Amino acid sequence: MHALASALAAGATEHGAEVRLRRVAETAPRSAIQGNPRWLEHADGTAPKVLEATLDDLEWANGYAFGTPTRFGLPTVQLKGFLDTAGGLWARGLLADKVGTAFTAASTAHGGLDTTLLAVNNTFYHWGSLVVPLGYGDPHLKKQSGNPYGASFTGGSSDRPGDVELTAARIQGGRLARFAAAVAAA
Ligand SMILES: Cc1cc2nc3c(=O)[nH]c(=O)nc-3n(C[C@H](O)[C@H](O)[C@H](O)COP(=O)(O)O)c2cc1C
Repeated sequence: MHALASALAAGATEHGAEVRLRRVAETAPRSAIQGNPRWLEHADGTAPKVLEATLDDLEWANGYAFGTPTRFGLPTVQLKGFLDTAGGLWARGLLADKVGTAFTAASTAHGGLDTTLLAVNNTFYHWGSLVVPLGYGDPHLKKQSGNPYGASFTGGSSDRPGDVELTAARIQGGRLARFAAAVAAA
């Protein structure tokens, strides 16, 4: 997810956006993290270098890209936990008229990529944000990555996203930046 997020952020930056790359708080028990070498590597190596998302980030941004691996076909409780702290901003209308998009990963091709993305997007309807799908507009999306709902990585615990997935995420970041700027200007 971090690799996809970084590619998406690069795509948004290339299209003129000011980007805050953030992570949500890790709430899983240490024993669960230690049971997965890649999770442990991320938790101890990469995650501490990334700032934790705050409500100020949500209020500041004109557009959001929320990424989450699939957990039984749904977003993680970690992401949901953060989104559930946004009630105050929502009540004051501060999350409306923005744009949002989602990206994900799963270990199997039919293991819930699309259901996870659609579940994240439900949040945008409640906020009054516009959903920006990845679509099929770019030839790369039609011929290679092939998920119009959002950039997706399918792989086992030893795989990492390659050019196909990272390019899709980059394109998604560019789309998000363009739509965020247009909606903010309107
Ligand atoms: C509790 C749990 C539930 C999961 N559920 C699914 C699932 O429904 N479908 C699937 O394809 N992968 C599932 N996975 C695998 C994750 O989606 C996988 O962690 C994700 O692709 C990120 O890969 P990584 O954990 O190797 O970094 C699950 C993993 C966990 C820990």
